[in-house]
Amino acid sequence: MKVLALNSSARTGDVSKTEIVLDYLVRGMREAGAEVDVIELRRKKIRYCIGCFTCWTKTPGTCVHKDDMTKEIFPKYLACDLVVLATPLYHFTVNALMKTFIERTLPIALPFFEKRDGVTSHPLRHEPPPAVVVSVAGFPEESVFDQLKSYVNYLYGPRLVAEIYRPSSEILTPSAGGGVLAEIYGALMQGGRELVQSLKISPETMDRIKKPLSDFEKTASVGNLMWRTCINEGFTLGEAQKRGLIPRPDSIETFLEVMRFGFHAKKAGDARVAMQFRFTGQVQGECYLAIEDGTLETGLGKIGSPDLTIESPFEVWMDILTRKADGQQAFLDKKYSVSGDISILMRMNEFFGR
Ligand SMILES: Cc1cc2nc3c(=O)[nH]c(=O)nc-3n(C[C@H](O)[C@H](O)[C@H](O)COP(=O)(O)O)c2cc1C
Repeated sequence: MKVLALNSSARTGDVSKTEIVLDYLVRGMREAGAEVDVIELRRKKIRYCIGCFTCWTKTPGTCVHKDDMTKEIFPKYLACDLVVLATPLYHFTVNALMKTFIERTLPIALPFFEKRDGVTSHPLRHEPPPAVVVSVAGFPEESVFDQLKSYVNYLYGPRLVAEIYRPSSEILTPSAGGGVLAEIYGALMQGGRELVQSLKISPETMDRIKKPLSDFEKTASVGNLMWRTCINEGFTLGEAQKRGLIPRPDSIETFLEVMRFGFHAKKAGDARVAMQFRFTGQVQGECYLAIEDGTLETGLGKIGSPDLTIESPFEVWMDILTRKADGQQAFLDKKYSVSGDISILMRMNEFFGR
């Protein structure tokens, strides 16, 4: 089977969630023996359709533009056994690049009006390939895809053999580690294999692909902190990710959320540690972190018999957490104080290095 996979994401590499999802699907397809040609549309020269209808009149079936769409992509589209259209959800539908591709497939149609099932349409010059639509979206609700679903179903009708939609996309990371992400990626590969074998994805595999990710509300508040940190520090999201920027908590609650987010269960291993924090200054209060059997428990207030107690102005500790200040130097400068097992401090980067 010859598959043409078109990716219209504006981003590439680890930050592109469209690429991550498509990549796993394609791996499965290749495993099942398909020959998959992945084209990143952003790297190609594709001009807008100018509505001249030359492809319907003077040069039937051939567009007037002499660009990558005419020379490479359209011929591949006509020759493939399956096309995968992978697009980020932009303003609740395909992004402009994917729409430009779709519009430029006009030469596939003939100009004449014809009634099909009571609806006016154009007969086709060539048989188009079956299509799979893949999309990712930042919001968590499945309903964000409603307009896209409606559009692609109307456009492709029975030729649309599978639709893969992943909301909460910004939580996706390229390597799954373990847990739900690993299951979703495994299911995407399985979906790819099934498409090659039977031109459809079974309901069981689709359920696994759609498996909800972790509690969006929690990750959203860390996400909001990240946006705020980018705004305050003047970084783009890409620059923040490259630098490994840590979102700066602005309350004890968000401090605990960032710690939960950064917790590295595997590295914590079988460590048993209870840490008490006493914050002074702009944000005042107490909270604790307790690690046991690879899990992290957090809470406001006191924990009984802590192994380590840290007393610090909130701002100082947040400077250390976000790597604006060096923890050891701040300790030597007596900017915060500790009591108990001080060696735990040395292991903080290990426990919370995610
Ligand atoms: C211009 C623009 C419009 C977007 N519109 C929506 C939207 O309508 N709904 C949504 O849930 N996410 C929306 N998003 C978020 C993207 O769908 C999300 O970040 C996705 O991961 C982008 O794909 P990529 O990771 O391949 O770049 C939008 C992002 C941009 C840049």
